[in-house]
Amino acid sequence: MIKLIKEGRILPTNGPEFDDLNKFSGQLGRELVFEWLEGQYWLHSDLPRERPIGIEIDKELFRHEEYFKKSSLQKELLARAVGVKGPYRPKVLDLTAGMLGDCLLLLSFGCEVWACERHPVIRFLIESALMNAQHPKLKLLHFLPGEASSILEAAPSVDVIYFDPMFEDANEKTSPRKEMRIFRSLVGSDEDAVQIFKKSLDLKLKRLVVKRPRQSACLFRKPSVEYIGKSTRYDVYFSV
Ligand SMILES: C[S@@+](CC[C@H](N)C(=O)[O-])C[C@H]1O[C@@H](n2cnc3c(N)ncnc32)[C@H](O)[C@@H]1O
Repeated sequence: MIKLIKEGRILPTNGPEFDDLNKFSGQLGRELVFEWLEGQYWLHSDLPRERPIGIEIDKELFRHEEYFKKSSLQKELLARAVGVKGPYRPKVLDLTAGMLGDCLLLLSFGCEVWACERHPVIRFLIESALMNAQHPKLKLLHFLPGEASSILEAAPSVDVIYFDPMFEDANEKTSPRKEMRIFRSLVGSDEDAVQIFKKSLDLKLKRLVVKRPRQSACLFRKPSVEYIGKSTRYDVYFSV
Protein backbone atom coordinates (compact mmCIF):
# COMPACT_ATOMS: atom_id res chain seq x y z
CA MET A 1 0.00 0.00 0.00
CA ILE A 2 0.98 3.61 -0.33
CA LYS A 3 0.72 6.21 2.42
CA LEU A 4 -0.23 9.84 1.77
CA ILE A 5 0.61 12.35 4.49
CA LYS A 6 -0.85 15.84 4.31
CA GLU A 7 -0.67 18.42 7.09
CA GLY A 8 0.20 15.73 9.61
CA ARG A 9 -2.81 13.55 8.65
CA ILE A 10 -2.78 10.23 6.84
CA LEU A 11 -5.22 10.34 3.93
CA PRO A 12 -7.24 7.35 2.67
CA THR A 13 -5.74 5.67 -0.41
CA ASN A 14 -8.27 2.95 -1.12
CA GLY A 15 -10.01 4.79 -4.00
CA PRO A 16 -9.64 3.58 -7.62
CA GLU A 17 -7.37 6.56 -8.45
CA PHE A 18 -4.72 4.90 -6.27
CA ASP A 19 -5.06 1.38 -7.74
CA ASP A 20 -1.93 1.60 -9.91
CA LEU A 21 0.16 3.03 -7.10
CA ASN A 22 -1.04 0.46 -4.58
CA LYS A 23 -0.47 -2.34 -7.09
CA PHE A 24 3.06 -1.13 -7.80
CA SER A 25 3.84 -0.80 -4.10
CA GLY A 26 2.62 -4.41 -3.63
CA GLN A 27 4.88 -5.63 -6.46
CA LEU A 28 7.81 -3.74 -4.96
CA GLY A 29 7.10 -5.36 -1.59
CA ARG A 30 7.27 -2.17 0.46
CA GLU A 31 5.17 0.78 1.46
CA LEU A 32 5.67 3.99 -0.52
CA VAL A 33 5.23 7.16 1.51
CA PHE A 34 4.31 10.46 -0.16
CA GLU A 35 4.23 13.63 1.90
CA TRP A 36 2.60 16.92 0.90
CA LEU A 37 5.09 19.76 1.41
CA GLU A 38 5.22 23.20 -0.25
CA GLY A 39 2.21 22.53 -2.46
CA GLN A 40 3.09 19.11 -3.88
CA TYR A 41 3.79 15.48 -2.98
CA TRP A 42 7.32 14.25 -2.31
CA LEU A 43 8.32 10.59 -2.17
CA HIS A 44 10.16 9.50 0.97
CA SER A 45 13.43 7.72 0.33
CA ASP A 46 13.86 4.09 1.37
CA LEU A 47 16.99 5.23 3.27
CA PRO A 48 16.26 7.03 6.56
CA ARG A 49 18.58 10.03 6.22
CA GLU A 50 17.82 10.99 2.62
CA ARG A 51 15.51 13.89 1.79
CA PRO A 52 12.33 13.01 -0.13
CA ILE A 53 12.32 13.42 -3.91
CA GLY A 54 9.98 15.56 -5.96
CA ILE A 55 9.98 17.71 -9.08
CA GLU A 56 10.51 21.42 -8.51
CA ILE A 57 9.01 22.66 -11.75
CA ASP A 58 8.90 26.43 -11.19
CA LYS A 59 12.32 26.49 -9.55
CA GLU A 60 13.88 24.60 -12.48
CA LEU A 61 12.17 26.71 -15.13
CA PHE A 62 13.19 29.98 -13.45
CA ARG A 63 16.75 28.63 -13.10
CA HIS A 64 16.90 27.83 -16.83
CA GLU A 65 15.41 31.21 -17.66
CA GLU A 66 18.16 33.00 -15.72
CA TYR A 67 20.82 30.81 -17.30
CA PHE A 68 19.67 31.45 -20.86
CA LYS A 69 19.73 35.21 -20.31
CA LYS A 70 23.52 34.85 -20.32
CA SER A 71 24.15 31.76 -22.42
CA SER A 72 23.21 31.08 -26.03
CA LEU A 73 20.78 28.25 -26.79
CA GLN A 74 23.09 27.18 -29.59
CA LYS A 75 25.57 26.03 -26.95
CA GLU A 76 23.00 23.52 -25.67
CA LEU A 77 23.45 20.12 -27.24
CA LEU A 78 19.81 19.21 -26.62
CA ALA A 79 18.65 22.38 -28.42
CA ARG A 80 20.84 21.55 -31.40
CA ALA A 81 19.79 17.91 -31.37
CA VAL A 82 16.07 18.73 -31.59
CA GLY A 83 16.75 21.36 -34.27
CA VAL A 84 16.22 24.69 -32.44
CA LYS A 85 17.63 27.29 -34.84
CA GLY A 86 17.12 31.07 -34.98
CA PRO A 87 13.45 31.68 -34.18
CA TYR A 88 12.42 28.11 -35.11
CA ARG A 89 11.13 25.97 -32.24
CA PRO A 90 10.14 22.39 -33.08
CA LYS A 91 7.13 20.73 -31.48
CA VAL A 92 8.48 17.85 -29.44
CA LEU A 93 6.94 14.63 -28.18
CA ASP A 94 8.99 13.53 -25.16
CA LEU A 95 8.15 9.84 -24.83
CA THR A 96 10.05 9.43 -21.56
CA ALA A 97 9.21 12.34 -19.26
CA GLY A 98 10.72 10.83 -16.08
CA MET A 99 11.49 13.58 -13.54
CA LEU A 100 10.93 16.16 -16.34
CA GLY A 101 14.61 17.21 -16.52
CA ASP A 102 14.84 17.29 -20.32
CA CYS A 103 11.22 18.28 -20.75
CA LEU A 104 11.71 21.46 -18.68
CA LEU A 105 14.84 22.28 -20.69
CA LEU A 106 12.87 21.89 -23.93
CA LEU A 107 10.15 24.16 -22.54
CA SER A 108 12.72 26.74 -21.54
CA PHE A 109 14.01 26.75 -25.15
CA GLY A 110 10.43 27.73 -26.07
CA CYS A 111 9.42 24.38 -27.62
CA GLU A 112 5.87 23.12 -27.22
CA VAL A 113 6.17 19.71 -25.56
CA TRP A 114 3.90 16.69 -25.23
CA ALA A 115 5.40 14.63 -22.41
CA CYS A 116 4.49 11.01 -21.81
CA GLU A 117 5.14 8.88 -18.71
CA ARG A 118 3.85 5.41 -17.84
CA HIS A 119 5.26 4.66 -14.41
CA PRO A 120 2.59 5.17 -11.69
CA VAL A 121 4.97 6.67 -9.11
CA ILE A 122 6.62 9.08 -11.55
CA ARG A 123 3.22 9.99 -13.03
CA PHE A 124 1.93 10.78 -9.56
CA LEU A 125 4.96 12.99 -8.79
CA ILE A 126 4.56 14.83 -12.12
CA GLU A 127 0.82 15.36 -11.72
CA SER A 128 1.20 16.58 -8.16
CA ALA A 129 4.10 18.90 -9.12
CA LEU A 130 2.00 20.37 -11.93
CA MET A 131 -0.92 21.14 -9.60
CA ASN A 132 0.50 24.37 -8.20
CA ALA A 133 3.28 25.17 -10.66
CA GLN A 134 2.78 28.57 -12.28
CA HIS A 135 5.64 29.35 -14.62
CA PRO A 136 4.32 30.95 -17.85
CA LYS A 137 6.23 28.41 -20.02
CA LEU A 138 3.91 25.68 -18.67
CA LYS A 139 1.27 26.77 -21.18
CA LEU A 140 3.52 24.99 -23.72
CA LEU A 141 3.34 21.67 -21.85
CA HIS A 142 0.82 18.86 -22.42
CA PHE A 143 1.24 15.97 -20.03
CA LEU A 144 0.18 12.55 -21.37
CA PRO A 145 0.12 9.88 -18.67
CA GLY A 146 0.38 6.42 -20.24
CA GLU A 147 2.29 4.19 -22.62
CA ALA A 148 4.44 5.68 -25.36
CA SER A 149 3.32 2.95 -27.78
CA SER A 150 -0.36 4.05 -27.54
CA ILE A 151 0.61 7.68 -28.06
CA LEU A 152 2.66 6.75 -31.12
CA GLU A 153 -0.30 4.81 -32.54
CA ALA A 154 -2.35 8.01 -32.51
CA ALA A 155 0.17 9.50 -35.02
CA PRO A 156 1.01 12.65 -33.06
CA SER A 157 1.42 15.83 -35.03
CA VAL A 158 4.86 16.95 -33.84
CA ASP A 159 8.20 17.65 -35.53
CA VAL A 160 10.47 15.69 -33.22
CA ILE A 161 10.27 12.62 -31.04
CA TYR A 162 12.58 12.64 -28.04
CA PHE A 163 13.40 9.32 -26.39
CA ASP A 164 15.46 8.77 -23.24
CA PRO A 165 14.87 5.23 -21.96
CA MET A 166 16.43 3.87 -18.76
CA PHE A 167 19.57 1.94 -19.46
CA GLU A 168 22.08 -0.18 -17.63
CA ASP A 169 25.06 2.14 -17.54
CA ALA A 170 28.08 -0.08 -17.56
CA ASN A 171 30.35 2.96 -17.81
CA GLU A 172 29.19 4.62 -14.64
CA LYS A 173 32.25 4.85 -12.45
CA THR A 174 30.83 6.77 -9.49
CA SER A 175 27.73 5.92 -7.47
CA PRO A 176 24.60 7.43 -8.99
CA ARG A 177 23.07 10.62 -7.58
CA LYS A 178 20.42 10.07 -4.89
CA GLU A 179 17.51 10.80 -7.22
CA MET A 180 18.89 8.50 -9.88
CA ARG A 181 19.38 5.69 -7.36
CA ILE A 182 15.80 5.97 -6.09
CA PHE A 183 14.55 6.40 -9.63
CA ARG A 184 16.33 3.27 -10.80
CA SER A 185 15.13 1.25 -7.83
CA LEU A 186 11.55 2.10 -8.84
CA VAL A 187 11.58 2.18 -12.62
CA GLY A 188 14.20 -0.48 -13.43
CA SER A 189 15.23 -0.61 -17.07
CA ASP A 190 12.98 -0.07 -20.07
CA GLU A 191 13.10 -3.43 -21.80
CA ASP A 192 10.89 -2.32 -24.69
CA ALA A 193 13.21 0.53 -25.73
CA VAL A 194 14.17 -0.91 -29.13
CA GLN A 195 10.54 -1.64 -29.97
CA ILE A 196 9.54 1.96 -29.12
CA PHE A 197 12.52 3.25 -31.09
CA LYS A 198 11.43 1.34 -34.22
CA LYS A 199 7.84 2.49 -33.85
CA SER A 200 9.04 6.10 -33.54
CA LEU A 201 11.28 5.80 -36.59
CA ASP A 202 8.39 4.38 -38.62
CA LEU A 203 6.45 7.62 -38.13
CA LYS A 204 9.05 9.40 -40.30
CA LEU A 205 8.86 12.69 -38.47
CA LYS A 206 11.52 15.34 -39.08
CA ARG A 207 13.75 13.96 -36.31
CA LEU A 208 13.98 11.23 -33.73
CA VAL A 209 16.42 12.09 -30.96
CA VAL A 210 17.68 9.35 -28.63
CA LYS A 211 19.62 10.18 -25.47
CA ARG A 212 22.39 7.75 -24.60
CA PRO A 213 25.31 7.66 -22.17
CA ARG A 214 28.35 9.05 -24.02
CA GLN A 215 30.17 5.72 -24.40
CA SER A 216 27.18 3.45 -24.98
CA ALA A 217 26.30 1.68 -28.18
CA CYS A 218 23.48 3.07 -30.35
CA LEU A 219 20.07 1.86 -29.32
CA PHE A 220 19.53 0.03 -32.59
CA ARG A 221 21.15 1.47 -35.69
CA LYS A 222 23.66 4.22 -36.44
CA PRO A 223 22.21 7.73 -36.24
CA SER A 224 22.39 10.38 -38.97
CA VAL A 225 24.21 12.76 -36.59
CA GLU A 226 25.56 12.55 -33.03
CA TYR A 227 25.91 15.39 -30.54
CA ILE A 228 28.44 14.31 -27.94
CA GLY A 229 28.65 15.92 -24.49
CA LYS A 230 30.71 15.15 -21.38
CA SER A 231 28.58 12.24 -20.21
CA THR A 232 25.68 12.19 -22.65
CA ARG A 233 25.23 11.68 -26.37
CA TYR A 234 22.22 12.62 -28.47
CA ASP A 235 21.74 10.32 -31.48
CA VAL A 236 19.68 12.09 -34.12
CA TYR A 237 17.81 10.21 -36.85
CA PHE A 238 16.48 12.31 -39.71
CA SER A 239 13.47 11.03 -41.57
CA VAL A 240 14.43 9.37 -44.85
C1 LIG B 1 15.66 7.81 -18.14
S1 LIG B 1 14.07 8.25 -17.62
C2 LIG B 1 13.79 9.77 -18.44
C3 LIG B 1 14.44 10.92 -17.77
C4 LIG B 1 14.00 12.24 -18.33
N1 LIG B 1 14.44 12.40 -19.70
C5 LIG B 1 14.51 13.37 -17.46
O1 LIG B 1 15.30 14.19 -17.96
O2 LIG B 1 14.10 13.44 -16.28
C6 LIG B 1 12.97 7.21 -18.50
C7 LIG B 1 11.52 7.43 -18.12
O3 LIG B 1 10.71 7.08 -19.23
C8 LIG B 1 9.65 6.26 -18.81
N2 LIG B 1 9.35 5.37 -19.94
C9 LIG B 1 10.21 4.50 -20.52
N3 LIG B 1 9.62 3.84 -21.52
C10 LIG B 1 8.35 4.32 -21.59
C11 LIG B 1 7.26 4.02 -22.43
N4 LIG B 1 7.34 3.07 -23.37
N5 LIG B 1 6.09 4.69 -22.24
C12 LIG B 1 6.01 5.65 -21.28
N6 LIG B 1 7.02 5.97 -20.43
C13 LIG B 1 8.18 5.32 -20.59
C14 LIG B 1 10.19 5.52 -17.60
O4 LIG B 1 9.10 5.10 -16.76
C15 LIG B 1 11.06 6.56 -16.95
O5 LIG B 1 10.34 7.35 -16.04
